Amino acid sequence: MSTYVEDNRKVTTHRLFEMKQRGEKISMLTAYDYSMASIIDQAGMDVILVGDSASNVMAGNVTTLPMTLDQMIYHGKSVVRGVKRSLVVVDMPFGTYQGNSKEALASAVRIMKETHADCIKLEGGSEVRESIERILCAGIPVMGHLGLTPQSINKFGTYAVRAREEAEAQKLIEDAHLLEELGCFALVLEKIPADLATRVAQELTIPVIGIGAGGGVDGQVLVMHDMLGINKNFSPRFLRRYADLNTIITEAVQQYIQDVKSHDFPNEKEQY
Ligand code: KIV
Repeated sequence: MSTYVEDNRKVTTHRLFEMKQRGEKISMLTAYDYSMASIIDQAGMDVILVGDSASNVMAGNVTTLPMTLDQMIYHGKSVVRGVKRSLVVVDMPFGTYQGNSKEALASAVRIMKETHADCIKLEGGSEVRESIERILCAGIPVMGHLGLTPQSINKFGTYAVRAREEAEAQKLIEDAHLLEELGCFALVLEKIPADLATRVAQELTIPVIGIGAGGGVDGQVLVMHDMLGINKNFSPRFLRRYADLNTIITEAVQQYIQDVKSHDFPNEKEQY
């Protein structure tokens, strides 16, 4: 399969803005380690998100809440080492930016200094305004995240589609405008009605990247384990699976077990 990459320069926040202006869709995928990040980068991904979904797909937790700053920094460093072209965004984990804007800045500075990533992402709108302002004042680019914000799962009580009701949709629109006014360079909208996401993308000048938010936004993001079919127990309507790695890996591992048990591996050529 050919790649859509015509420009091998490093992707910057400004280039994402230009992509939106010329109507070029932005591709974004999560990664958590060096090897996968380098494959995804070389395949031509515009943005790699070191998501706190690492909590689910790497650590096996039920929610993203247990993720720590040290763990995000570990994943961020590993990803950055594998990337040459993609813009690398690191999620700020739960509890490191919501309460106190000075602590938020300290957390963001640690991420930037220790991982060498390009920018950070955090969840929420007006509630985290002070934290966003302080982080931006330090020159750290911020990507916002509205709609289904998994760090608030205990408040929502469900992973169902958000902002179906007028009041919540209105708050989301106001928050999206606020994030743009504050200076966020992009916004993720997760699991909201497609019409609402399209409206937000049309009203904002910054790129809006959707997950379960329809095709009217400026780009798409998926969790790598879901789209590669590593994770078989997660099948939301918005997910398209591009591979069945669960089956491919299982068959390869079973073949290896069989080869070891049957004395087939290693053969004459596979030894010194
Ligand atoms: O942590 C994550 O993977 C995310 C995406 C779902 C956008 O925030």
